[in-house]
Amino acid sequence: MAGQAKEPLSIFGAGWVGLVTGSCFAELGHEVVVRDVVPEKIERLRAGELPFFEPGLAELVERNAERLTFTLDAAEAAHASELLFVCVDTPPTYSGDADLSRVWTVIDELPQLDRRGILVMKSTVPVGTGEKVRAALEGRGLSHIGYVSNPEFLAEGHAVDDFMRPDRVVVGAFAEADGDHVSALYSEMDAPTVRADVASAEMIKLAANAFLATRISFINEIANVCEVTGADVEKVAEGVGLDHRLGPHFLRAGVGFGGSCFPKDTNALKQLASNSGYHFQLLSAVIEVNELQKRRVINKLQKYLGRLREKRIALLGLAFKANTDDMREAPSVVLASRLLAEGADVRAYDPVARPGELLRGVSVCESVLEAVRGADAAVIVTDWDEFRSLASSEVRDAMRRPLIIDGRNLLDPEAARAAGFDYEGIGRASSPLAALPETDEPSSVDVPSEAMGQTGSAENAEHFSRE
Ligand code: UGA
Repeated sequence: MAGQAKEPLSIFGAGWVGLVTGSCFAELGHEVVVRDVVPEKIERLRAGELPFFEPGLAELVERNAERLTFTLDAAEAAHASELLFVCVDTPPTYSGDADLSRVWTVIDELPQLDRRGILVMKSTVPVGTGEKVRAALEGRGLSHIGYVSNPEFLAEGHAVDDFMRPDRVVVGAFAEADGDHVSALYSEMDAPTVRADVASAEMIKLAANAFLATRISFINEIANVCEVTGADVEKVAEGVGLDHRLGPHFLRAGVGFGGSCFPKDTNALKQLASNSGYHFQLLSAVIEVNELQKRRVINKLQKYLGRLREKRIALLGLAFKANTDDMREAPSVVLASRLLAEGADVRAYDPVARPGELLRGVSVCESVLEAVRGADAAVIVTDWDEFRSLASSEVRDAMRRPLIIDGRNLLDPEAARAAGFDYEGIGRASSPLAALPETDEPSSVDVPSEAMGQTGSAENAEHFSRE
């Protein structure tokens, strides 16, 4: 796709958004300078190494090496281009608000530019940030630097494709000409551009993520009701998703959403509303349903195994979803911690994610077979393709008790049972939570109200903050 040299671009932040954005623009023919504050990261990037796993990105960086420069120098990046993309992370604070300190650092570090420039915000920020940034720029004598909100809609695992083939491009500008300038960058793409005011562009990003998260919590609650009424959520989602007004996406029931975006952005939007005096009731429920959903697997295990003390449980998948090594806010972390608290012996395997210190007390294995050896249950936590062939005779013979809890509904229940496993998915009629089979010892706990879909207080729910 590379063509002749185009307008140079500067990217602040060599994280996931910054590197995907920078590499894709380089692929489109732009000279790109990527700036970060972490020396080791810049050194590794200069040596051609990526600091994380994202399919297709390493090839893109390699192919466009000549057009990509990595630097620690903010002034070098600021002088290299008129368009300065802000791609720093905006992690959650304890209050649930987004932490904008890295955004402010970028502005503080801008040199006194004597020509016009535009700060293009890709980072996910609260509505109203553009106004604040504009005031900060004026305060620094940089009122000739414009501001455009240009949120990213990249999903981990297929970010390169999402960038190159977007559903839409959103451009929110204070000055029409600045909006035109940024829109032109995407003119080769076959996608509609939504031109908006800055606040609306900021809200589009938050609302899109909140809506997708709402669909997931909705289908998870439908799954929970399916379990107690004898319906099958997979069939239900198929039938619902064929309505062209609803569509089939984000209707996969499972162990709840995780990652660096949905948990953070739903909380940030809830917080943003409440800081402005509005109680966003629906979003509060979406977040609470998700917290409880992660824990339902524990009840399913107890249903078959009784007390989990000294039971060996294999967690298959640690990443928050397939095709990424990202474990931020991953359901696996909550599950592992709950299992350890129950006294279980927890084994875990992921094809890519490496938990490091995050899963203290868990034995991390190198293969599915190693993880399931001698296990009383195998729990599918991440939707890696590799786990679709889990119900094999090799796995069954390796386990102490051939029980699969399929937290992603990857397997065919009948095939798993035919292969000699006890099998339970999420919201599948064939295994209602209410029907308790015989266990070798009585369950130490009654199925708590949360397992039956009655929500308690999310505030009281055990919560994992990030490192
Ligand atoms: C999400 C959005 O999909 C992107 O559009 C957005 O740009 C990005 O956040 C961001 O704000 O940067 P991402 O977090 O990478 O992307 O992952 P998703 O594919 O959206 O999945 C999020 C979580 O929802 C995962 O844990 C996934 O397993 C779960 N999920 C997704 C379900 O449980 N069911 C579904 O049907 C879909």
